[in-house]
Order: sequence, then structure tokens, then C-alpha cells
Amino acid sequence: MESAESPRRALPLVEPLPVAGRLSVARLTDAWYVLATSRELSGKPLARMLYGMPLVLFRDRENRPAALQDRCAHRNAPLSLGRCEAGTIECPYHGWRFDEAGRAARIPSLCAPHPERPLVASFATREQAGLVWIYATPNVEPTHEPFPLADLGPGYASVTRMVEAHGTLHATVENALDVPHTAFLHRGLFRGAGKTHRIRAVVTRAGDRVQTEYIGEPRPEGLVGRLLSPSGGVVTHYDRFILPSVAEVEYRIGAENHILVSAFATPVEDTKTRLFAVIRFRTRLPVWLVKLVLEPLALRIFAQDARMLERQTETVRVFGGEHFMSTELDLMGPQIGRLLRQAELGKTRPGNDEPDEWRREIELEV
Ligand code: FES
Ligand SMILES: [Fe+2]
Repeated sequence: MESAESPRRALPLVEPLPVAGRLSVARLTDAWYVLATSRELSGKPLARMLYGMPLVLFRDRENRPAALQDRCAHRNAPLSLGRCEAGTIECPYHGWRFDEAGRAARIPSLCAPHPERPLVASFATREQAGLVWIYATPNVEPTHEPFPLADLGPGYASVTRMVEAHGTLHATVENALDVPHTAFLHRGLFRGAGKTHRIRAVVTRAGDRVQTEYIGEPRPEGLVGRLLSPSGGVVTHYDRFILPSVAEVEYRIGAENHILVSAFATPVEDTKTRLFAVIRFRTRLPVWLVKLVLEPLALRIFAQDARMLERQTETVRVFGGEHFMSTELDLMGPQIGRLLRQAELGKTRPGNDEPDEWRREIELEV
């Protein structure tokens, strides 16, 4: 019989739970992020979050997007609860109005002149291709421009969608560019419905990006592949990550089908990421039919990803940090992590087009 004093047997853990651990979070503030679509920014203030910082977006006198810290200079009420008035934002508490530079445009009942310097931090903005971009450092004019969407020429349909995931930017972008999980987590929807094929993948890098090209993949047997190219064909497939947070997936199937998904990831908080995806495609099928079938499928695929990212984030949290191991199949995740770390250390930056000799080639089954 064991006495009450006998030492308790250790739980059969593989390793002790760390008290505090690592989370792949990079804070790149010399960078542009998409905070809204142009359509979302109408006559009302729009509350958004970037790196945990509450922002309010509105349109100025020239109808250009404006972004301020979402905190009134007077008594710190959230400006996003106020209203837009003549190109300014009006605080809901005492009615102070601020312009796009954060200067007081009006202080009700005050007879004395009010300060002319900015009272609320403001962020540079750009509007292009139906997206509203914010530069992540306040009160400065950036020296580079947001990522330009490639001009694909005529004949393309375009759809923009916003989705949110409870994952770090790194985990969310890796998920968007990760091939091996598609046959498993999305079994039958994309890949994994038929027999597997051995193909080659070539990874290349430049100053601000990493790209994987998949060579020799027959058209996937899943629903999406069959819809796009009923007669089969060979797939040309690229996955790209471009600093600070652009994930691009490009497919050509047969001669007529081309789809380019440009997803702009926005770090809302450390473990919450928004994706603004611009999906452009050209196919011989009518656009309405592709949208009708493809959209619910894409949303189903993303719902599976979002569920997994949330559970992954929760598991990492419970275990106190990330304990990842990779194989050579993890082509993009470690490369994305490397770019984010290097950018955080100032060793590279968005727009850096320096060539890089580094190259890796592997064989894999899809
Ligand atoms: S708190 Fe905004 S006007 Fe007073
Ligand atoms: Fe996925």
C-alpha cells in the first residue's frame, strides 16, 4: 500500500510543457496592408484593427480614404462610433471633428482658436484595384507603394472576397500556399479523389519573395479541376509569397483556363488574420457558371482551413508555443518564416528585387 507521502508518479509526458514558448509572429510596420475594400468605405466610419491597434477609416473631402487611430484626443471615445461629416470624422461624445491628418476641424462651442497640430495619429492610405491600403507606421509618408496587382489583360472575370482566420499571419499564409494538406483536409474537393502522381517542385527566391513551381501535374481529379478543364490537360501551378503578406496561387489548366488568386493578408492581432482575396480567372465556361459552382466550393474549402487554423492556434497556445518539425515537403512555410524574420531585422523589405541564387528541387506525390 502506498503511503500518503509517497511521491506522485510523473505523468507520462513526452516532454515537459514549456512555460512560455515561441509564436511565429513578425511585426512589419514598414509595410502596406489591405484594411478594407473600396465598397466597404462609404458614408460611415469603419472600425478596423491592425497589429492590435484600433483604427477608424473614413473618406476625406476629396473622397480619398483616411485612417486615424480610433481614439478621440479629447476623452478617448472611439471615433468609429461617431459619424462622417463633410470629409471629417465627428466624435460621438462631445462632437470634436478631425480631418484626415488628425487635426481638429471643429470643437463645438469653443470660442478660442483650437490647436492646429495633429491631435490623433494618422496613417497613409492608398486606394487601388478596389482595395484600401494602410501604411502600418503612423504619421509618416512611406517611401514605397503597395503591392501592384499584375495586369492580366482583357477577358478576365474578377471576384474579391474577405475571410478571417484565427491564426498567425505566418500560419494563415502557409496554409494558403501549402499543397500537401489539400489531398487530406480537402479530400475530394480538390486533390486526393483519384490516383496520385509523382511531380517535381522547384523553389526559387528573390529579395522579397519565394516561389514554388509544380511541374508535371495532370489536371486534378477533384470537382474544381474537372469543372475548369473537363478534357484534362497538364497543370501549370505556381505558389508565391511576397513581402509583407501577399500569397499568390496561379493555375493554368489546358490552353484556356487561367486562375490567379492574389490574397493580401492583414495581421489583425497576433493570432487573427484577415485575407482579402482577389480572384481573377479566364475560362471557356460562362463566368456565371464558374461563380455559381466555384464560390460555394471555395468557401467550403476555406471553412475547413479556418477550422483547422483555429484548432492549431489553440493547441499551440495550450502547449505554450510552437514545436514544429518540417520535412522537405514543407516547401513554403519555413521560407515564409525566413522572409518575415529577415524583414523584421531590416535585412530585406517589400519591393526588394535583388536576385538570389538559392534553389531547391524535390519530387513529391500529389
Ligand atoms: S471624447 Fe471625443 S469629443 Fe470628447
Ligand atoms: Fe486549404
